[in-house]
Amino acid sequence: MSRIHVIHENDAWVVPLRAAFEGLGAPHEELFLDTGILDLTQPPPEGVFYNRMSASSHTRGHTFAPEYAGAVIEWLERHGRTVVNGRRALQLELSKVAQYQALAAHGIPTPETIAVVGTQHIPDAAAKLGFPVILKHNRAGKGLGVRLVNSEAGLTQALEAMAHDADPHAQPRDGIWLVQRYVAAPEPFITRAEFVGGRFLYAVRVDTSEGFELCPADACQVGEGEFCPAVAPGEKFRIVESFSHPLIPRMEAFLTANGIGVGAIEFITDRDGRTFAYDVNTNTNYNADAERKAGREGARTGMGAIAAHLHRLLDSRLAKAA
Ligand SMILES: Nc1ncnc2c1ncn2[C@@H]1O[C@H](COP(=O)(O)OP(=O)(O)OP(=O)(O)O)[C@@H](O)[C@H]1O
Ligand SMILES: [Mg+2]
Repeated sequence: MSRIHVIHENDAWVVPLRAAFEGLGAPHEELFLDTGILDLTQPPPEGVFYNRMSASSHTRGHTFAPEYAGAVIEWLERHGRTVVNGRRALQLELSKVAQYQALAAHGIPTPETIAVVGTQHIPDAAAKLGFPVILKHNRAGKGLGVRLVNSEAGLTQALEAMAHDADPHAQPRDGIWLVQRYVAAPEPFITRAEFVGGRFLYAVRVDTSEGFELCPADACQVGEGEFCPAVAPGEKFRIVESFSHPLIPRMEAFLTANGIGVGAIEFITDRDGRTFAYDVNTNTNYNADAERKAGREGARTGMGAIAAHLHRLLDSRLAKAA
């Protein structure tokens, strides 16, 4: 039977999507990828595949899950399965360098960035850009390693602390550090624009006054076995009604050109009104509390829109096969 298959490595993030599928009566299954077997002598099951692999999977002990997902996607695409967020989306999920080059190709400004392999080169890169700078991991997620450094002395301290950091995730998984110009916003917030089926769904304003770890699902820090990953207390996430921005059409074009059926783009607007996009999430989570407060239900919520989009793709695949 033809179904929707969700490729992922984090159960908690799929809970609201399961509920949305149930609501629509959409046949669905999951491909939880951590370790396992991929038999290339067999064809994949029929249906539509939605890849939700995350760049931060190694922080949950699923060290090679993205590489595994990459192999599975090769197999699916070779057999002509419908894949939402396929090989190119995965490539972008795993590299901010790749994101920035692809955004620039679509006329979307990104903060000046220097990629560094070998932490001994970070001071040179920072001196080139001038302080303040942001340090971050190329393969990131959850704000891993994101740090604001205001001065040369501050950088020396940060590098010293990093060198003695016992946390295995303190270093970027792929060894690439990014040194980036700090975009100072007049008010402490960033905007995250959500897209489903390649079309703009809504924008959420995220309060950054408490720091850089801004994943909507991680914000509430649910413990083991607890239910909802995407409800945050307070007003950290707020959906902006009737949001418009001149870059939205370019963002849609960027997503379509890169095979990102579901994704989010984060950006900051500085004091001079210049907007810079600095993060593309192909494994996007939604804040259920913010959606409720905005009166969003069904296909107007993130997961509802994804479920409806995948259900439509499944129907059109079935119609073609008939
Ligand atoms: N160049 C910058 N200027 C100012 N603030 C920045 C810059 N880059 C990152 N930040 C801040 O740090 C946060 C995390 O950065 P970023 O989104 O690049 O990391 P990430 O690991 O991909 O995070 P996530 O997966 O949670 O979205 C941003 O939302 C923003 O608040
Ligand atoms: Mg981000």
